[in-house]
Amino acid sequence: MKGIILAGGSGSRLHPLTITVSKQLLPIYDKPMIYYPLSILMLLGIKDILLISTHDDIPRFKKIFKNGSKFGINIEYKVQEKPNGLAEAFILGKDFIGSDEVCLILGDNLFYGSGYLNKIRKNIKKLSGSLIFGYEVNDPERYGVVEFDKNFNAISIEEKPSSPKSNFAIPGLYFYDNTVVEKALKLKPSKRNELEITDLNKLYLEDKKLKVQILGRGVTWFDTGTFSSLLQASSFIESVQKRKGQQIASIEEIAFKYGYISKEEFKEYLKKCSDNNYYLYLKKLIDEF
Ligand code: TTP
Repeated sequence: MKGIILAGGSGSRLHPLTITVSKQLLPIYDKPMIYYPLSILMLLGIKDILLISTHDDIPRFKKIFKNGSKFGINIEYKVQEKPNGLAEAFILGKDFIGSDEVCLILGDNLFYGSGYLNKIRKNIKKLSGSLIFGYEVNDPERYGVVEFDKNFNAISIEEKPSSPKSNFAIPGLYFYDNTVVEKALKLKPSKRNELEITDLNKLYLEDKKLKVQILGRGVTWFDTGTFSSLLQASSFIESVQKRKGQQIASIEEIAFKYGYISKEEFKEYLKKCSDNNYYLYLKKLIDEF
């Protein structure tokens, strides 16, 4: 399975913060926002990753990740000229996807919790069509909303409905079989002139191939696109990390612990890093493992 991180967009809700820099490079406590979705792909064992962003921001992401080899992964880059919508990811990623299945994660989505990753691993092993997620919220009209039956097959899907049919918002994490590319190519721009992921999901729904996994109470999901959610996400990460003495979404830690890089490579990497709290935590791991 291939992975795509969509990290472009205009970030207009975060202006003036995002006039000169991508939203996805802003800090969520002690690391850039993009670390969080990247960590999810790595935790799921997805090592071939396409990072899509703007012309101006791609060089900044390259400065952090290069080709990904220092984290034991392979990162390629693609420019999205304009924020033409989430579903454009599969058109831009056509060659990268090749004949594989693909996971799309939005660069401003943060997930944390227990158990859900194992369930995703199980669900994607037997992926038939697509897998999306449902997260119960009290303001579903702000999101894509999914209604589903007792077997977790989607029944309806609507973008920002005024009278939502359920309270389940669809977070920015999606898994598709290889037909996603031809489906994306069929889409027409919506009224807001975007290729909508909801329209793409509707094509899977027509084929009765849109599965839903519920992210329950034990899972925290933030879409960090507003001032308030940006701060909330930072505070959340700070308090959980301080309390537990463990990092959330440290891609270096994951690379080491999941065996993407060897102990020697990890040591070598850390030699060049300063002795701040982030890297001191990683340096301590060398002796513990
Ligand atoms: P949004 O938050 O919907 O859009 P945005 O980032 O442009 O922000 P704003 O609404 O404040 O203007 O985007 C969700 C995620 O998808 C975010 O990580 C940016 C990314 N994105 C793209 O990379 N390309 C796109 O065409 C769109 C619409 C979003």
